[in-house]
Amino acid sequence: MRTQVGIVGAGPAGLTLARLLELQGIETVVFEARSREYCEHRIRAGVLEHRVAELLREAGVGARLAAEGISHGGIHLQFDGGRHHIPMQELVGRGIVIYGQTEVVKDLIDARLASGLPLHFETAVESVDATAGVIRYPGGELQCDVIAGCDGFHGVCRQAVPAEAFEREYPFGWLGILAQVAPSMDELVYAHHERGFALLSLRSPQLSRYYVQVAHDEDVAEWPDERVWEELRARTALDGWELHDGPIIEKGVTGMRSYVGEPMQHERLYLAGDAAHIVPPTGAKGLNLAINDVRILAEAIAGGGLEHYSRECLRRVWRAEHFSWWMTTTLHKLPGGDPFDERLQLSQLRYVTTSEPAARSLAENYTGIEAI
Ligand code: FAD
Ligand code: DHB
Repeated sequence: MRTQVGIVGAGPAGLTLARLLELQGIETVVFEARSREYCEHRIRAGVLEHRVAELLREAGVGARLAAEGISHGGIHLQFDGGRHHIPMQELVGRGIVIYGQTEVVKDLIDARLASGLPLHFETAVESVDATAGVIRYPGGELQCDVIAGCDGFHGVCRQAVPAEAFEREYPFGWLGILAQVAPSMDELVYAHHERGFALLSLRSPQLSRYYVQVAHDEDVAEWPDERVWEELRARTALDGWELHDGPIIEKGVTGMRSYVGEPMQHERLYLAGDAAHIVPPTGAKGLNLAINDVRILAEAIAGGGLEHYSRECLRRVWRAEHFSWWMTTTLHKLPGGDPFDERLQLSQLRYVTTSEPAARSLAENYTGIEAI
């Protein structure tokens, strides 16, 4: 068996790449370790940069996104008892779209299957040979001109690229919930509080997605629903405003790390998305970076310039790494942090909520930097 581009992993990176290459008339085969059901229900990110939403629409997978995605022109930062608005649309002329990663994945799987193109679920790739361009899976081998390693941080492709690793682990995690209740706020709220960070987000007019900072190895069993709501209320309290609760239908803990492997390519193998880099979720960059990588990869496969792929991606990756690290260390309660750290965080938060150039810098990064 042979193909032009063998794609390992049917997350946002692999599926978007398959779609972009299909539109260029390039042949692809996609392998995915998990079932379709699993991929379509794995709850993760929810914020699309303006340009990423546009790319999905241009790729012909944006009908539901246009109908159900919720456009936001700003976010709120809360600290020291006050809630401050960052009017991103006003500051940089673009905003974000709230649309769950699960929905992006469903739309891409539907499009792939509607085109009748190969997407093999429950087929875990065992190894890839970057030199020979071979993908090995149970019962067979696929010869490829190019292999796209889109199999996330725990996949097999990352190990086949001799790369220098740049890493940072954070001593905390997020407990995330999905609740059947209308969101209590108009736009996302990132809250810095002495009890720890909290984030108020949403998935739809009926579904709220909320997070609280916890230990990186926190046991979910320690968090009955009552405790989650109590903690969310304490960390986001504001005079004249109330957080409404409802049935919690999903609950999980995510650890946090920053990771970049350089370079992102080796011989015939090109890494994209979480296989190449991880960001802590605070800047909402993971999904957006994955889709930006494969936009660049698809252009290079179709139009030439594959040798520059890694270099081109890494400029944007490091900008997102910095922004995510900055949001993370500014907004969280730092275990072991002293009053000096706390004063620095508050000073920085006051700065970005009072100085227009500082707010514009935040907005430019959050909505997706175009110039890099
Ligand atoms: P993935 O989505 O990880 O997809 C990789 C795919 O490869 C998976 O489907 C996997 O099953 C498959 N695979 C793995 N090994 C193999 C193999 N050997 N053979 C075949 N297939 C294989 N980002 C945010 O911005 N905000 C968030 O709130 C947020 N929350 C997150 C919560 C969790 C628990 C995790 C893990 C990540 C979260 N992220 C978040 C990050 C964001 O979801 C990722 O950056 C995004 O999923 C990256 O897409 P990807 O396609 O590169 O990787
Ligand atoms: C969501 C996740 C994030 O990491 C973030 O920064 C904003 C929103 C979410 O899941 O909705």
